[in-house]
Amino acid sequence: MKITMIGAGYVGLVSGVCFADFGHDVVCVDKDEGKVAALKKGQIPIFEPGLDHLVASNVAAGRLNFTDDLKTAVASSDVVFIAVGTPSRRGDGHADLSYVYAAAREIADNLQGFTVVVTKSTVPVGTGDEVERIIRETNPAADFAVVSNPEFLREGAAIEDFKRPDRIVIGLDGNHARARDVMTEVYRPLYLNQSPLVFTTRRTSELIKYAGNAFLAMKITFINEMADLCEKVGANVQDVARGIGLDGRIGSKFLHAGPGYGGSCFPKDTLALVKTAQDHDSPVRLVETTVAVNDNRKRAMGRKVIAAAGGEVRGAKIAILGLTFKPNTDDMRDSPAIAIVQALQDAGARVVGYDPEGMENARKVIEGMDYARDPYDAASEADAVVIVTEWNEFRALDFERLRTAMKTPLLVDLRNIYRKDEVAKHGFRYASVGRPD
Ligand SMILES: NC(=O)c1ccc[n+]([C@@H]2O[C@H](COP(=O)([O-])OP(=O)(O)OC[C@H]3O[C@@H](n4cnc5c(N)ncnc54)[C@H](O)[C@@H]3O)[C@@H](O)[C@H]2O)c1
Repeated sequence: MKITMIGAGYVGLVSGVCFADFGHDVVCVDKDEGKVAALKKGQIPIFEPGLDHLVASNVAAGRLNFTDDLKTAVASSDVVFIAVGTPSRRGDGHADLSYVYAAAREIADNLQGFTVVVTKSTVPVGTGDEVERIIRETNPAADFAVVSNPEFLREGAAIEDFKRPDRIVIGLDGNHARARDVMTEVYRPLYLNQSPLVFTTRRTSELIKYAGNAFLAMKITFINEMADLCEKVGANVQDVARGIGLDGRIGSKFLHAGPGYGGSCFPKDTLALVKTAQDHDSPVRLVETTVAVNDNRKRAMGRKVIAAAGGEVRGAKIAILGLTFKPNTDDMRDSPAIAIVQALQDAGARVVGYDPEGMENARKVIEGMDYARDPYDAASEADAVVIVTEWNEFRALDFERLRTAMKTPLLVDLRNIYRKDEVAKHGFRYASVGRPD
């Protein structure tokens, strides 16, 4: 299959290179010329484990190319994926579909022969209808089908997720046997590997993506509220999570209490689902509450640090370990660290951050913070060290070295990666989430 991937970001680049690795002939198109130029030189614009090697081997094999020339790529393709961003629209929280629609217009004029246009971006119900309308209006003679194929990969484990997905959801409407055949061919290696292919209508497929993310966001928020209750009643949230997670109907994943969910998907997707549901007079109140509880939680974590430091941090130095919204990515979008740092700065603290991969992106979204070379440099003369993101590098800290560097030995562990007894024996005061500290 000849495939064009429009948008070479976290999803487009990973999907494109994995399709190439399946043996397809893939061109990744991005309008960001700098990104395309870097990719052509073999430089990967994002941090994603294993991506550099997979890109290099597929470029070397001649199956993967990069361009900013959408026209030529689309004209020779059997399948065109739209994998551009769908951020929250400023002001109202609806998904901003301007990039998707712009891509649809650009595709329309260049279609040649039967082509399947696939929305891989996360898009609200009805977007596929509008993409189809735009293409038909722009190029009435075009022979095409619009398919929904939402992506479920997780940053940090994106390649593994793409190559071994729990399921592949494909939404198509009407009598689109040809489109179904093409999509089956595109995913053939996974299909042969027995990954379930869920065929449904386009609108249903669009909703599945939001329903999935909203459910996971609710699950995280549920255990976070249980953590708060545990702190009040002297219970242990990790045991609660294990005790309920072993129930097969509940499952143990997404039951880790922490500073609230962030990232490039859950915050914007939960909000977009709330808006879609309100527009259709069918409010999703559980999701509305999830959004509100999670928003409050991030700043509340700042207050938790201040409380652990004795209620006053004016003039204090606070070290933040981990800035990205989760480990193994450089993505800072909606990371809880942003609100936590802001809350500490508002209270008069000087904040120093360290992250193994996210500091370059953090500089773009966090103002007034200093950056350190490593955890011990961050901890130098600090009044508290706060673990915000559970990078592996923070799981085996040298506590003697850390305590010697610090002014006041206080560790606030917002990811519960340590136990109080192991930290206390090195002379630290310790606070964590939902555990009797
Ligand atoms: N990041 C994730 O973990 C993840 C997971 C599942 C689904 N998604 C969804 O996938 C979509 C893409 O997310 P992302 O994180 O990869 O975004 P991203 O911002 O990393 O990448 C989007 C890319 O599209 C490019 N682009 C925009 N308009 C274009 C156009 N007209 N022509 C060519 N290139 C264009 C941008 O320059 C950018 O490089 C979103 O809808 C997101 O919700 C993301």
